[in-house]
Amino acid sequence: MLPLLYLSLPILILSLFLPLQTQAQTPPAIGTFPIVLNSTSPLTLAVKPICGSLDSTNFTQVNAGIDLNSIKTLVTFGDSWTSTGANGTVPLPPVLHPPLPSAGARNSENRRATNGFMWSERLQMDLNAKLLDYSWGGAIIDNFAYNTTTPLNASAVQRSDFASQAALFALQGRFLDALVPEETLYTVGFGINDNGQFSIAGGDIDIAINTYVTKLAELQAAGAKNILIHGMYTSHTFTTTLQSRIFAYLVDSHSQNSTNIAFVDLQPLFGSISATPSAFGYTGNATCLISATTIVGGCEEPDTSVFYIPGHPSMTTHGLINQYTQAVLRECAI
Ligand SMILES: *[C@@H]1O[C@H](CO)[C@@H](O)[C@H](O)[C@H]1NC(C)=O
Ligand SMILES: *[C@@H]1O[C@H](CO)[C@@H](O)[C@H](O)[C@H]1NC(C)=O
Ligand SMILES: *[C@@H]1O[C@H](CO)[C@@H](O)[C@H](O)[C@H]1NC(C)=O
Ligand SMILES: *[C@@H]1O[C@H](CO)[C@@H](O)[C@H](O)[C@H]1NC(C)=O
Ligand SMILES: *[C@@H]1O[C@H](CO)[C@@H](O)[C@H](O)[C@H]1NC(C)=O
Ligand SMILES: *[C@@H]1O[C@H](CO)[C@@H](O)[C@H](O)[C@H]1NC(C)=O
Ligand SMILES: *[C@@H]1O[C@H](CO)[C@@H](O)[C@H](O)[C@H]1NC(C)=O
Repeated sequence: MLPLLYLSLPILILSLFLPLQTQAQTPPAIGTFPIVLNSTSPLTLAVKPICGSLDSTNFTQVNAGIDLNSIKTLVTFGDSWTSTGANGTVPLPPVLHPPLPSAGARNSENRRATNGFMWSERLQMDLNAKLLDYSWGGAIIDNFAYNTTTPLNASAVQRSDFASQAALFALQGRFLDALVPEETLYTVGFGINDNGQFSIAGGDIDIAINTYVTKLAELQAAGAKNILIHGMYTSHTFTTTLQSRIFAYLVDSHSQNSTNIAFVDLQPLFGSISATPSAFGYTGNATCLISATTIVGGCEEPDTSVFYIPGHPSMTTHGLINQYTQAVLRECAI
């Protein structure tokens, strides 16, 4: 299995270099914090999705036509809840470099906002599929949609957005994979940072919705036949409106274009975890680390913590996101 490879690789490299070393290198003291990846999960998915129908005016959990068994390529767009740090390249192995908390590169942004594999990598492994990941931490749908990010605002800070992620995919995706429509699943997950930016200084939700739909349409025009949307893990007025409008577009896509579509809402999963964490096997701190920049002062049980970095799931919670996503696709198929 892949996880074992990552477990044994550093040991192998270490043993190759040991004879060459003249002076023993003592690693910095980091207590008992685990630095090699053990992806065995002590958690159980203790919630079943409540399925909805395409008639719903609100977003709801449904799968109209996506057959996971035929998927050989995953193309992912989104934020730090999805990003492997790859930005369209090959993801680095999920190795931790303490005191950096994120699995991946030692000295660049190519890291995951967690301590191991992301949900998308677990799905990829379960399907024996290839992953093309365009998601990026902090990403929003469209920089022009919020006063804090618009390029027209001189003091604004621009972020990765769905528009730029889709543009990079359009440029190089077809060289990386055959992208056979029936065998390719496109996943999209935005909303966390959109809600965040909107709540700071306002913006125009219609721009966000219009861009979201336009990017989906461009993917469809380029051959996308299977589209899965993740609804965000908490409820907000902004994201409820956004998600309902995107859901309505998916329903139209299914009826007008025969696009296979699925909506997987993460809120019921995280609502249920928050209500009864022990049913899932959580025993540790709800959030393991005290900051996003260091493991110092963090907990010793990341595997039984819901969040690893504040606001970001632990590797084992990413495992539950994968299981829940597959449960919706299986159990809510219409
Ligand atoms: C991996 O994790 C499982 C479950 O938490 C544990 O039982 C097992 O001992 C761990 N294996 C290693 C090599 O640490
Ligand atoms: C839509 O769904 C969200 C999340 O489940 C819920 O909070 C909201 O009340 C619903 N809105 C309507 C109009 O049903
Ligand atoms: C992703 O890669 C593209 C192409 O190299 C680059 O233009 C873009 O800035 C990168 N995005 C991020 C967030 O690093
Ligand atoms: C411009 O962006 C900053 C943050 O980057 C924000 O505080 C400010 O309110 C924005 N200005 C306007 C006019 O919206
Ligand atoms: C955001 O910017 C728009 C102009 O683009 C402005 O009309 C609106 O008042 C701003 N919102 C806030 C809350 O500042
Ligand atoms: C149907 O597909 C085309 C691209 O082939 C796209 O432009 C259009 O937005 C799609 N309409 C819906 C409702 O999915
Ligand atoms: C974890 O929880 C324990 C017990 O409530 C607490 O003492 C400790 O400070 C917490 N650690 C972190 C990193 O939050």
